[in-house]
Amino acid sequence: MCGIVGYIGARNTLSVLIKGLECLEYRGYDSAGVSFIQNGKLNVIKKKGKVKELYKLMDDSGYDLSEKGKNSISAGIGHTRWATHGAPSDENSHPHMSMNGKICVVHNGIIENYAELRSFLRKKGYEFASDTDTEVAAQLIEYYYTKKEHDFEGSIRRALQDIVGSYALCVLCVDYPDRIICAKKDNPIVIGIGDKENFIASDIPALIEYTRDVVFMEDNCILIMTKDSITIKDVHGEVLDYEVAHVDWDTDAAQKGGYAHFMMKEMFEEPKVFEATVAPRIKDGDIFLEHFPCTKEFVSNINSINIVACGTAYHAGCIGKYLIEKLCRIPVTCTVASEFIYSDPIIDEHTLTVVISQSGETLDTRNAMREAKNRGSQTLAIVNVIGSTIARESDYVLYTAAGPEISVASTKAYTTQLGCVYLLALKFAKVLGKITPEKYADYQYELLEMPSKLQKILDVQDRIQRFASAEYNAESIFFIGRGLDYYLSMEASLKLKEISYIHSEAYAGGELKHGTIALIEDGTLVVSPITQDELAGKMESNIKEVSTRGATVLAIIPERFAEREFSCNEKFIIPDCDELFAPILTALPCQLFAYYMAVNKGCDIDKPRNLAKSVTVE
Ligand code: F6R
Repeated sequence: MCGIVGYIGARNTLSVLIKGLECLEYRGYDSAGVSFIQNGKLNVIKKKGKVKELYKLMDDSGYDLSEKGKNSISAGIGHTRWATHGAPSDENSHPHMSMNGKICVVHNGIIENYAELRSFLRKKGYEFASDTDTEVAAQLIEYYYTKKEHDFEGSIRRALQDIVGSYALCVLCVDYPDRIICAKKDNPIVIGIGDKENFIASDIPALIEYTRDVVFMEDNCILIMTKDSITIKDVHGEVLDYEVAHVDWDTDAAQKGGYAHFMMKEMFEEPKVFEATVAPRIKDGDIFLEHFPCTKEFVSNINSINIVACGTAYHAGCIGKYLIEKLCRIPVTCTVASEFIYSDPIIDEHTLTVVISQSGETLDTRNAMREAKNRGSQTLAIVNVIGSTIARESDYVLYTAAGPEISVASTKAYTTQLGCVYLLALKFAKVLGKITPEKYADYQYELLEMPSKLQKILDVQDRIQRFASAEYNAESIFFIGRGLDYYLSMEASLKLKEISYIHSEAYAGGELKHGTIALIEDGTLVVSPITQDELAGKMESNIKEVSTRGATVLAIIPERFAEREFSCNEKFIIPDCDELFAPILTALPCQLFAYYMAVNKGCDIDKPRNLAKSVTVE
């Protein structure tokens, strides 16, 4: 949801800004722009399209964008946009300059009362050059700066009193060439601390090349950054203490490393990141969930579990619901976060709310977590990004060790989220005495075996590639499954539609005949994961129903079903495992299938149309 960068220091500012924007492009790619103060003048360069369009424009205009380039810029900010207010265009691109050229702003978030503020400013003689809510912030800060406060920081603080909405705002003022001021509410800002240089970004990958020492800015704070200092204040101007965190990600974690796309690289990382998530938590025959009290007293006090999440993380939650109910016999609801807050949920202090989020910033998920807390629930966050808002605001955190996920389509984060929900379900079952010691040991072994089985799937991924090459013209694809395979189908279908733009639906195998089977015709493609022993017979009937009506069927099955007769055109065989653990393996061929369908269709894999990673609007 828009990426922001800022830099003050001796490096070539334009190179730092452009490279930072490239790293943040997964957050939005409708337009890009930079603003900087050079020789006492405030400059703006912006362009509709991806960062490479901006790069070309600047390169053609003679700017030195090389790392080694000389720096005569005192402060710079940049932005890559995911359009909300105003279509993607040069005019609506950020940064936005105020009418009299004093102030320049980049913004991530939404100013909800922008129409009201715009009419106030119009009456004061301000003219607008764009349709965006952000331009209002630039004009309002200038208005207070020139008419009332005559002080950069004071005018921002005053403008924030009028602004309703969410924001990560980075502001330059032509009269203060040595500083960038930022304000934050409900959208992330990470500060990177260097030696006589400082950085700002929406996310860590934009900083990691330069520093590992970061500060996660809190809501309702203002940052005043020069090359030598970081000062964080509250909205009243009181100076606040802050904590510096150290990030230990590899620098190459945010690079493609020879793969054609981040999505491919991230799928190939699944064995490694699943192991990093699960293995350190299994020791001496037991599961340890750091920072989360899994005592008998704590778990026995929980009467129900409430899982909230969005998109792919929601699908991981659905698997979690199935597992916890099956293994622990605790009732679990799993709700899409955007619906949760309007559902008047039945929650009290005996409910544990499990919040799942890769970014830890998704606004719908944050709102759902806050609602659950307000109703007395304890909260456990399963989050990938260390120090993210959801991680900070929840009572307990279980980090997935996926590392930075750059591709908009979530793959390795999903697999690691599954790792955490399996650990949680098993640990609860053990503490509640619902699982025998033998089963508990077997299931831990299953988890530890997963990385090598995931690798086996990657080793034969060309089979999925071949199938996708033959089928990529499909106009509509159905994923059908029962039990865990149905929840997995939901994720498989989402992955396919988001990156290949092929219409797709996930259906419970038994439900299809209650209406949707009317859509099956000659050549309709049906993908069916069949991994559950008791349900395999019923699934065979379901795929027979569709193949008789002309569907082409790909069945994804475990080794033990390899010789079994299924009415399918193609089988993809995954390694055997206990059926309860099959979703961890089945997800990968479905992700590969979505990837190759999209590659064959020539889609932009890592930056699918209309989407952005980290959705910080409602
Ligand atoms: C799909 C995808 C989205 C996210 C969803 C939640 O591939 O990436 O559906 O899963 O927007 O995001 P997080 O997990 O960051 O809360």
